[in-house]
Amino acid sequence: MCGIVGAVSERDVQGILLEGLRRLEYRGYDSAGMAVLDGKSAVQRAREVGKVESLAAAIEASPLSGHLGIAHTRWATHGEPSQLNAHPHMSGDRLAIVHNGIIENYQELREELKADGFEFTSQTDTEVVVHLIEKNYRELGKLYDAVKTAVTRLRGAYALAVVHADEPEHMVVCREGSPLVIGVGIGENFIASDQLALLPVTDRFMFLEEGDLADIRRDSIEIHDREGALVDRAVSRFEHSADAAEKGEYRHYMLKEIHEQPRVIKATMEGRVTDSRVLEQALGIEAGELLQDVRHVQIIACGTSYHAGMVARYWIEDLAGVPCSVEVASEFRYRKHVIQKDTLFLCISQSGETADTLAALRQAKKAGFRAALAICNVPGSSLVRESDLVIMTQAGPEIGVASTKAFTTQLTALLIFSLALARKNGLSAEREADIVKALHLVPGQVSDVLALEGEIAEMSERFVEKNHALFLGRGSQFPVAMEGALKLKEISYIHAEAYPAGELKHGPLALVDSEMPVITVAPNNSMAEKLKSNLEEVRARGGELFVFADRAANVKPEENIHVVQLPEVHEITAPIVYTVPLQLLSYHVAVLKGTDVDQPRNLAKSVTVE
Ligand code: G6P
Repeated sequence: MCGIVGAVSERDVQGILLEGLRRLEYRGYDSAGMAVLDGKSAVQRAREVGKVESLAAAIEASPLSGHLGIAHTRWATHGEPSQLNAHPHMSGDRLAIVHNGIIENYQELREELKADGFEFTSQTDTEVVVHLIEKNYRELGKLYDAVKTAVTRLRGAYALAVVHADEPEHMVVCREGSPLVIGVGIGENFIASDQLALLPVTDRFMFLEEGDLADIRRDSIEIHDREGALVDRAVSRFEHSADAAEKGEYRHYMLKEIHEQPRVIKATMEGRVTDSRVLEQALGIEAGELLQDVRHVQIIACGTSYHAGMVARYWIEDLAGVPCSVEVASEFRYRKHVIQKDTLFLCISQSGETADTLAALRQAKKAGFRAALAICNVPGSSLVRESDLVIMTQAGPEIGVASTKAFTTQLTALLIFSLALARKNGLSAEREADIVKALHLVPGQVSDVLALEGEIAEMSERFVEKNHALFLGRGSQFPVAMEGALKLKEISYIHAEAYPAGELKHGPLALVDSEMPVITVAPNNSMAEKLKSNLEEVRARGGELFVFADRAANVKPEENIHVVQLPEVHEITAPIVYTVPLQLLSYHVAVLKGTDVDQPRNLAKSVTVE
C-alpha cells in the first residue's frame, strides 16, 4: 500500500509528482522518492526517509528537471524504512521503477538474478522486478517488450510504472492485484494509485483492468489486456469536486471528515429512500429479483468496514429474519468455508482495493453464491467492478487514515440494504416507514452530537495520562464500542478493548480500577436496564465511567460517572448516531497527546497488500 504517481508532459513534471505524492501520502509515509528524465542524461533520482516533505526539501535543495517522471511514497513491507529501500529502484543508471504491492516469489527471482550477475542494493521485493526488466531489456531492446516479458515471471500483487533513459518519451505501466489509474490530460498523461493524486491536473480517468499493460505517452495511451489484445478502457470523469480532498479550515482531515457526516449521510440516502420506504431499484435493476432468492448473507470486510458489517448483522437478522454471518476477510480467505448457493456475498470496503477483501470475494466466486454486493466508496475500484450489485457510499474522498465518514455512510447504505431485503421477507410497510423516517432524522441528530464537541473535548483531558481503556456496549451498540476502541488505539496509541457489556464479569472486570476508564454507549434501547447493571459492576470496583446516553436512559452524573447526553434516537438508527461522539473523543485525546492524527504510525489508509 504504497502510493505511486507518474507523468509524461511537455512541462516539467517535478511539481506534479510532488503534489501527487502529498495527496497519496495517506497510503504510506515512511519514505518517498522520485525519478525524472530529461531526454539527455541518465535518470535523475532523489529518495528520502520520512514523509513527502523531506523529499520536497531535498528536491528544493537540488532540483530534478524533466518531462517524464515517476514517484513513490512507501509503506514498508520488505525491508525497513531507509533510503536504500525507498523507491524508485534502479538497475544501472538508466532504468527506474516504482511498485505498489508484493512480489511473492522475490526470493527465488533474487537468487536467479544474482547468479546472472545483478547486484542488489536493497532488501525490497521490488528490486528483483527492476533487474528482471533490465535483463529482458538487454535481450529485447524495447522497454515495453521487456516489461511484458518480465511480468510473466512475477507472482503476487503489483502496480508498476517503469521508465528508461533511452526511451524518454514514454512510461510503461501495468497492474495485477494493486490499483492503478490513468489520468488523461491534453497533450500530457498521468498515472497514479488513485484519482485524488491527479485532481490538480485532470478530472478524466481510465481504470486499468487486472493484467493490463499500458504504454503512456504525451499524446497517446495504448493498453493491452492479459492476452495481448489491444483494448479500450472507458474514460470517466471524477465525480467529486477537487476541493473535497482539501483540508479547508480544519486542523486535520479527520476532524473535517467527522464534521462532514451529516451531509454525506444524507447524500448516501439520496435517490434510495422516499419519505417512508426504500427504493430497491436504487440498488440495481436486478436487485428486486435477486434479493428474492437470498436465504443467507455472508459479510466480509476488514478494519472499520468489518465493524459496519457487525452492525449490519443485527439489522439483517432483526428486520429481514435472514441468517447473516460476518467475518474478517483475512480469516475467511484462509479457511475452508461453506457457501450456500443462495448466499448474498456482501463485501464492505471504503477503498474497494483492500487485498484481503478482494481475495475473499474472488475465492468465494469459485465456490459459487447467488450474487456479490459491494458497499464501497470509490467508484471504479476493483471491488465495484467485480461485484454484481453495488451501493456506493457518498462519503467523498476520505483522507484521514482512521475511517470516520466512510463508516457512518457504510452503516447508512447497509440499513437501506437491510430494509430492501427485509421487505422481501415480510417486513410490514408500517415498520419500514417507521425506520425510514428515523433514518431521515439521522443527519440532524449527528449535527446535534457534533455540537457537543466542546464537552467531549473537555472530557478527553481525562484520558491523556491513561494507558488503557475499555469500551462497552450491548446489542448493535457492541460493534459501535468496537469501532470506538479501534479509533482510540489507532490515533492516540492508547490500548483499548471493546466488550459486549454482558461479558464484563467473565474476565475484563478483573482489570477495572481507577486507572481503567470505561466508556459506554447506552442509548435507551431494549438493553438499557441490563447495561445499567453492568455499569454498577464497574462502579463497585472503583472504575471511572464515561457514559454516552440519552435523557430517557436516565443515567445520572455522579462521582466517577461522566455523562454526555445525546439526542433521543430510534433503536435501529442509534449505532450511526452513537458512533460520532466516540470519534470526537478519540480525535481530541490524540490531539492532546500530540500524535499524528491523520497519519498514525505504522498504519495506512488502503491496505492493498496482504
Ligand atoms: C485500513 C484502514 C482502515 C480501514 C481498513 C479497511 O486498515 O486504516 O481505516 O477500515 O483498512 O479498508 P477498506 O478500504 O477495505 O474499508
